[in-house]
Parts: sequence; C-alpha cells; structure tokens
Amino acid sequence: MERRTEPRGVLRPWGFGRSPEGVVGSATRMLGAPMRDRFLRACRREPVDRTPVWFMRQAGRYLPEYAAVRGDRDILDTCREPEVVVELTLQPLRRMELDAAIVFSDIMVPLEAVGVSVRIAHGTGPVVAEPIRREADLARLRDLEPEADEPHLLEAIRLLRAELSVPLIGFSGAPFTLASYLVEGGPSRDHARTKALMLGEPTLWARLMERLAGICLTHLRAQVAAGAQAVQVFDSWVGALGPEDYERSVLPYSRAVFQGLAGLGVPTIHFGVGTGELLGLMAAAGGDVIGVDWRVPLDAAWDRVGPERGVQGNLDPVVLLAPWEVVRERALGVLRRAGGRPGHVFNLGHGVLPQTPVESLQRLVDLVHGAAEGA
Ligand code: CP3
Repeated sequence: MERRTEPRGVLRPWGFGRSPEGVVGSATRMLGAPMRDRFLRACRREPVDRTPVWFMRQAGRYLPEYAAVRGDRDILDTCREPEVVVELTLQPLRRMELDAAIVFSDIMVPLEAVGVSVRIAHGTGPVVAEPIRREADLARLRDLEPEADEPHLLEAIRLLRAELSVPLIGFSGAPFTLASYLVEGGPSRDHARTKALMLGEPTLWARLMERLAGICLTHLRAQVAAGAQAVQVFDSWVGALGPEDYERSVLPYSRAVFQGLAGLGVPTIHFGVGTGELLGLMAAAGGDVIGVDWRVPLDAAWDRVGPERGVQGNLDPVVLLAPWEVVRERALGVLRRAGGRPGHVFNLGHGVLPQTPVESLQRLVDLVHGAAEGA
C-alpha cells in the first residue's frame, strides 16, 4: 500500500475537512457507503474482521497540519469554532485508517461553559483562576445547559456526523479528574489538596462530586443526542487513589454517570492511568469497555475487569519513539495478549506524545489491521 508522510492536496484549514482525493483511509463519507463499524462491534464484544484501532489525542501537535491550523490560539477558543473543530478532528483520519474519530474538544470545555475561568497553559495543562476549595465556591458550579452553554461543540458533532464514515466518539472528564483541576487550580503530581479535601471534608467533597457527576452526565448525553456514537469517560488522574478511597469517594459518582448513560444505546469506555489496582472497581462503576494503560499486561487487565467487558489499550506511547522493530514487537505483544478475543479495541495506554513520528503511527495502524487478519 502506498505510504505517504505528508497529506496530499492543499491543506484547507477552514474547510469542512473534505478528504483529498485518494487518501489512505479516507474517513469522509462517500454517498451511500456503509459505516466502517468494527470499533462499535468490538465495544459490544462482537466478532470483527480486524482489530479496531484509534488513538487518544490522535489530533494534536505531532501532526504538522494541526500546528498550522491551531497556531498560538488558546485551545478553548479553538473549541468554540465548529468548522475548525471538524477540521482538527478529521486530520488524523486523512493520514491513517483509524476506526474511530474523537471530537476535538477538551475535558475543561463543560466547566468553562458553566462559567469557571480556565485556560490551558501550553505544555502544562488546565489552570483554574479561582480554585474551588470551600462550600461557598460551589455556587460557581451551576448546572450545564448544553444547547445554550456549549452550542459550538454540538454543532461540530452534527457537522462531523455528516462527514464521517467511521464512528464518532464523544467524551468527558470523570468527576474525580475534573475535581482535581478545580481544587488544585492546575495540574498536580500528588493531588494533595484534592485528596485532603476528600478525606477532611467529606460533605463538601460529596456535594462537589455530585455536581461534577451531573455536569459530566449532561455533557455526555448532549453529545450523544447530537450524534456521538460512543462516549469515553477520562478519569486520567484517578490512579492517585488507593482502592479504599476510590470505592468510597469516587466510585458512587462515576457509577451515577454510567447509570445515566445506560439505555442511550451507545457503548461507553471508562479510562484511567495508573489504575492497576482499581480496574475491578472501575468496571464495577461502569463502562462497556475499560481503558488500561501500559503498566498492566492486557491479559491481566482483562482478568481484573472480567470477561463481560471489553478492554481498550495498551501500548506505551513512549514505545512509538523507538525504532519500528521495537514498536512492532511491542504492538504484536499487545495483540497476542488480547488473543483475538472479541472486545479488544487497540489504543495506546495514554495520549499520543507530541514528538511521535507520524509514520510510526501510520505503520502501527496497518500492523494492527493486518495482524488480526485471519486470526
Ligand atoms: O484525543 C483527541 O484527539 C481529542 C482531543 C482531546 C484534547 N484533550 C485536546 C487537547 C482530548 C480527548 C482531551 C482530553 C483531556 N484534556 C484530558 C484527558 C485525556 C488525558 O490526556 O488524560 C486531560 C487530562 C485534558 C487536560 C489537558 N488539556 C492537558 C493535560 C493538556 C496538555 C497541555 C499541553 O500543552 O501539553 C491539554 C491541552 C490539549 N488538549 C492539547 C490537545 C490536543 C494539547 C495542547 C495544544 O495542542 O496546544
């Protein structure tokens, strides 16, 4: 198969992301063409022709065309321009035969939408001007009204559905991960303030988590109503907790989110980093598919979440910085541990790093698709 490192055709940053002619893995819809649905089938643990693959942070700085469109603008400003969101969402799909798109957004979008003052500091992450630490601060977290508060996101999802020939994933930060940014005021290594509030002021913690679960659920339901065909809940930083604290102080709120999604008919993915000891509890909280990082071998992770769940993962994103032979060997290792069982969605254990060579990701997609053939 022809392999390109640069997209063919003129880059049309403000266009509707129509795929340049003949592009590998064109994800834009040809009229009457069927949806490539192996991602949704795997989420439902149905048999698939090839293992589906997509990447967390598949839109991002590792793509030169992403940098060209984004420039220096704040990412949250970018998220308010539906046509740019469409373009950024489609860019990785023009490069590789990915089996799902994830709408270009950020976990802080619904919080900003209800009036929290937040910006995303380049190279650092979200910074919240006035952290939430006292009872009185909760008043600043009102309910989310998606059609009024985040119409751009919903518009982008509607536009994307008209363009895509692969399923579209919507997402939200989970209550704990959102709480961490709100309480710390920014990224944190040990999440000390968040955990201190959780342990020292359980009533305030419960009220904060209830509110965040409500915002998270409303945000996800609105994305599904607009056309998202699966949703992922990112509890990226929950691995900071031990099982006891997770079970008592986080699980009930994450469970409320997943219970609120049941019956919508879309698969749900529940992802966290450093969650080896939490996987069973995360599965108990909910999610048709549990996302796992690279710290637990995929087969061991599957044992922990149980056979009635799918698993998503789990190649270490840093492996992609190594020579291709290493990438290949490690990726085949992940597939071997999945053992061809229905319910595996290939992904990285966390997001694509900005220094990742595009070509390594392209070859990885082809490897995953080829390796599963006839397996
Ligand atoms: O996956 C995709 O392609 C969709 C886009 C996406 C973004 N953020 C865009 C983005 C998704 C799924 C997210 C989710 C998100 N945002 C999470 C959960 C996933 C994870 O990585 O654990 C978290 C924790 C955030 C908060 C956040 N936003 C961080 C930590 C950063 C990195 C800051 C930096 O500069 O390194 C961001 C910014 C951000 N969000 C970027 C992208 C592509 C990179 C910044 C840029 O392009 O300038």
